[in-house]
Amino acid sequence: MYLISSSCLFILYLCLGCNALSLPNSHTCVVGAGYSGLAVSRYLKEFGVNYTVFEASRYVGGTWRFDPHVGVDEYGIPVFTSMYKYLRTNTPRQTMEFGGFPFPDSAPSYPTGPCFYKYLKSFVKHFDLMPNIQVRSFVQAIRWIDQHWELTYTQTEERNNYTVSCDFVVIANGQYVRPLLPKFPGLDVFNGSVIHSHDYKEPETYKDRRVLLVGAGSSGLDLATQLHNITNKLVHSHHLVYNQPKFSDHYVKKPDIKGFTKNGVVFKDGTVEEVDDVIFCTGYEYYHPFLDESSGLTVSGKFILPLHQNIINIRHPSMSFIGVVNKVITRVMDAQAEYIASLIAGKFKLPSQEEMLRMWLAHVYRLQYKRKKIIDVNTVGPDQDQYFANLTMEAGIARVPPVLTDIRDFNAVNRLEDLLNYRDYDYEVLDSYNYKRWHNGGGSRAEECPIDA
Ligand SMILES: Cc1cc2nc3c(=O)[nH]c(=O)nc-3n(C[C@H](O)[C@H](O)[C@H](O)COP(=O)(O)OP(=O)(O)OC[C@H]3O[C@@H](n4cnc5c(N)ncnc54)[C@H](O)[C@@H]3O)c2cc1C
Ligand SMILES: *[C@@H]1O[C@H](CO)[C@@H](O)[C@H](O)[C@H]1NC(C)=O
Ligand SMILES: *[C@@H]1O[C@H](CO)[C@@H](O)[C@H](O)[C@H]1NC(C)=O
Ligand SMILES: *[C@@H]1O[C@H](CO)[C@@H](O)[C@H](O)[C@H]1NC(C)=O
Ligand SMILES: *[C@@H]1O[C@H](CO)[C@@H](O)[C@H](O)[C@H]1NC(C)=O
Ligand SMILES: *[C@@H]1O[C@H](CO)[C@@H](O)[C@H](O)[C@H]1NC(C)=O
Repeated sequence: MYLISSSCLFILYLCLGCNALSLPNSHTCVVGAGYSGLAVSRYLKEFGVNYTVFEASRYVGGTWRFDPHVGVDEYGIPVFTSMYKYLRTNTPRQTMEFGGFPFPDSAPSYPTGPCFYKYLKSFVKHFDLMPNIQVRSFVQAIRWIDQHWELTYTQTEERNNYTVSCDFVVIANGQYVRPLLPKFPGLDVFNGSVIHSHDYKEPETYKDRRVLLVGAGSSGLDLATQLHNITNKLVHSHHLVYNQPKFSDHYVKKPDIKGFTKNGVVFKDGTVEEVDDVIFCTGYEYYHPFLDESSGLTVSGKFILPLHQNIINIRHPSMSFIGVVNKVITRVMDAQAEYIASLIAGKFKLPSQEEMLRMWLAHVYRLQYKRKKIIDVNTVGPDQDQYFANLTMEAGIARVPPVLTDIRDFNAVNRLEDLLNYRDYDYEVLDSYNYKRWHNGGGSRAEECPIDA
């Protein structure tokens, strides 16, 4: 009898141990103090979790902070931010705000980059997040050793390495950090300047020059609006079908690239253009150089697997990710942050690893029906509202209202319909399902930023 009851207790203990992740005296390590790292800090603090944020730069705010350095900063640390001058958000701020922490009502819906940065700093101040953020801590390795994580970082001032032990790890190192540069024949003989949009800082650099812009994603279209009227010639190679606005006479649309020559570029239709500079707006890859096989994950530039809800490392559920999802509003990162903090605080329990893997495999299986490939495994895109619903259903976190997905869907189409003027409108969320939108007169409205910092 004694034996049986103690083994029952033992089994019970094991099951509690595998589902309830929260431990007394635990330590949670967060990588990165951009929007995502700040979002999770706020909830961890609110839920009384013991945590430290490791941030490589000397600043909070991630990509929203403009840095004039290219490549590496004055301390030889990689410049992770991709911000450039005169940027305005390409999505209404209402889809980017942290839950329960809106911009002042009078702020424009498409604020400038510096205004969004100010908003992030006001968030840090409001929730007093600085005490748990350790800057100048460049994470180099995260390893699973003896049932816990060991995180090694370089202190970038003294250049010493330190290893700390973490019961939970939250990876929030940014999605737009590692430039994706396609290879083209002849690029090595091309004698002009070549950069990726990650390193683009301001239009003035290209005044009166002949510039080739490659790609028509968010960056490509935004740089076209910045450069068409300042360059001597702006050659834009892309294959996006959209309502091309009336750019200046200096603008030339071209198809995809065949290759480069010493002075210029040859396109797939056989036409040729001479250019001085090339800017590749060809997107980014996931970048997690600090993970090794002990994480149990398959990590590549294009996808990360297997993750439960695109958040939890199924092999080691005490590791989670914020921002490994594609084609979603920034508010998704806030919902993921609340989900993770709720988990660590013991507010809900994950399914067993077997069950998470089974659900994940069903997700992969459904990709085939949708004629998608494994590289789409982290894409939420059109299922965004269902994703919010699922996170709420599983973790009991605040339900992000469907109206934000409606605004996102409208903006995604409208931006391509009215590229030069879509930001001259303001939005107001009326309730969970309705919003209104009106023309705001444009002009100096863009510069308004009613935030005290
Ligand atoms: C130019 C640009 C414009 C954008 N505009 C919009 C927009 O208009 N609307 C919108 O919704 N979204 C936009 N985005 C998306 C944007 O990425 C999100 O809004 C949000 O900033 C993501 O925050 P994050 O914290 O996940 O990443 P990041 O802001 O990139 O922050 C990551 C942080 O991690 C740190 N870090 C990286 N590696 C390490 C390491 N090894 N050790 C320690 N720290 C590390 C970095 O220093 C950085 O502070 C834009 C992105 C870019 C690049
Ligand atoms: C918080 O974590 C740190 C780092 O592991 C540890 O030194 C400290 O004792 C922890 N504090 C509490 C209250 O658990
Ligand atoms: C710290 O770690 C980095 C990355 O692993 C390594 O390149 C560097 O030499 C280390 N520095 C010291 C002082 O050990
Ligand atoms: C390459 O361009 C530089 C100016 O940027 C010029 O001085 C040089 O002669 C050019 N080289 C060749 C091989 O054309
Ligand atoms: C170029 O056009 C953009 C967008 O239409 C505008 O904001 C900018 O002021 C113009 N710049 C110049 C130099 O005319
Ligand atoms: C939401 O959950 C259901 C049920 O598990 C699943 O079939 C669906 O794929 C999920 N959708 C998203 C976007 O996560």
